[in-house]
Amino acid sequence: MPLVVLSAQIRDIEAVYDVYFKAFEHQPVLRILFPGGVYRKAHTEGITHLWNNDVNSYPVKCVDMDTGEIIGMACWDIFWKLGGESTWPKPGGAVWPVHPDHQRRGAGRLLMQWGIDVAEKTGLPIYLESTVPGNSLYEAMGFEQLTHVQIIHKAAITGDPEDTEIPLMVKMPGKAKGMTFERWAEKGYPNAYE
Ligand SMILES: CC(C)(COP(=O)(O)OP(=O)(O)OC[C@H]1O[C@@H](n2cnc3c(N)ncnc32)[C@H](O)[C@@H]1OP(=O)(O)O)[C@@H](O)C(=O)NCCC(=O)NCCS
Repeated sequence: MPLVVLSAQIRDIEAVYDVYFKAFEHQPVLRILFPGGVYRKAHTEGITHLWNNDVNSYPVKCVDMDTGEIIGMACWDIFWKLGGESTWPKPGGAVWPVHPDHQRRGAGRLLMQWGIDVAEKTGLPIYLESTVPGNSLYEAMGFEQLTHVQIIHKAAITGDPEDTEIPLMVKMPGKAKGMTFERWAEKGYPNAYE
């Protein structure tokens, strides 16, 4: 069954976020982002406003071409324009769910490849705050985990028994010629990676 990544439209919002909420159902991130639960009508209105107005936001969906079903989504933030609020260079990031019924079919890899292709063409690094399941995919696709900075989700907030470190994953573009993200940051994020 062929899978394809297409631009997600306003009319897709409910379907792509059905996938999002199902895939993150048992992960602390939902409890952190929506501590009082999710009111889908308000959420859909908020996302509609975001997709209509956020100039850095590029939502995409993964569709099973045999059934027409949306099985995965990513919302890339691509900071490629010079000046204003979207100053270059800044890395892009994405949220990344594939519906549990359709995992391990290659949708995650396709959604990631969409972003990697943009990153290679623009010469931008990719930055992601990962989950434990996401880590395997990102490592398989050449990401490295940052060790010089940390984000900790505190147990008191997540309700989990222990604090959780969120893996911060980056992928430098080919244009960086092997420079690590940490080294690039130390040098003040030079446009030419020199
Ligand atoms: C992480 C996630 C997006 C992967 O999506 P997917 O469509 O199943 O991924 P793919 O089928 O493209 O897998 C690509 C590669 O990633 C790795 N991988 C993916 N899921 C994995 C798992 N559960 N365990 C180990 N490796 C895994 C494998 O190397 C896999 O290649 P292979 O199938 O040839 O072995 C999906 O599991 C998911 O949505 N999880 C819940 C939400 C989440 O945590 N998202 C990440 C947010 S940052």
